[in-house]
Amino acid sequence: MQTFRLLCLAGSTRTDSYNYALAGTMAKQLSLTGINATLISLEDYPLPLFNADDETEKGLPDNAVRLSKLLAQHDGVFIASPEYNASLTPLLKNTLDWISRVPSDGRDPFNTPVFAIGSASPGKLGGMRSLAHLRQILVALGAIVIPEQISIGSAGNAFDDKGDLTGDREAAFLNNCASKLVQTAQRLKSLA
Ligand SMILES: Cc1cc2nc3c(=O)[nH]c(=O)nc-3n(C[C@H](O)[C@H](O)[C@H](O)COP(=O)(O)O)c2cc1C
Repeated sequence: MQTFRLLCLAGSTRTDSYNYALAGTMAKQLSLTGINATLISLEDYPLPLFNADDETEKGLPDNAVRLSKLLAQHDGVFIASPEYNASLTPLLKNTLDWISRVPSDGRDPFNTPVFAIGSASPGKLGGMRSLAHLRQILVALGAIVIPEQISIGSAGNAFDDKGDLTGDREAAFLNNCASKLVQTAQRLKSLA
């Protein structure tokens, strides 16, 4: 049987990032259900700010190629997206832009895995406005993004010391998002 693998990442490298915590909580939830889930930090994949002249002169950065291959090797991807001025962070947009420049070698980084998205913010809306933009970008890149998403407001109080969500409602949303991601990814994999 082929291995079924999910990847979790966040659009923030801030120390104590709420979104990295959310990506970690999702990875933990998936692992508890027996899914092979990996949490990565974009800190380990630094990329320059995209400039087409640099791309022409220096080619693609190794980390763009590494990330492209990594996405393509997974069946599902969860992205936790912070909200900056009602949109996604420059880090996440820059990362997606670089990955979109990597030529596909058969398994497309956006078309192979199924995507789920979530956000966390100290604000009451939980960063949900970033998700509309992130969804639009992923769909434009050919991704299937499941409708179920999660936004965690008042994020400073939302996680306990173990990284679990303190609110029952938030935990239920996370579980639902996790199970729908798994179901959709498994269904599409079985059709491939
Ligand atoms: C430039 C900037 C713009 C921000 N804009 C928003 C916003 O529009 N909505 C919101 O809920 N939080 C906003 N925030 C606050 C972030 O949600 C907060 O810094 C959060 O901790 C970022 O996510 P992280 O903890 O994963 O790094 C903004 C923060 C910065 C630095």
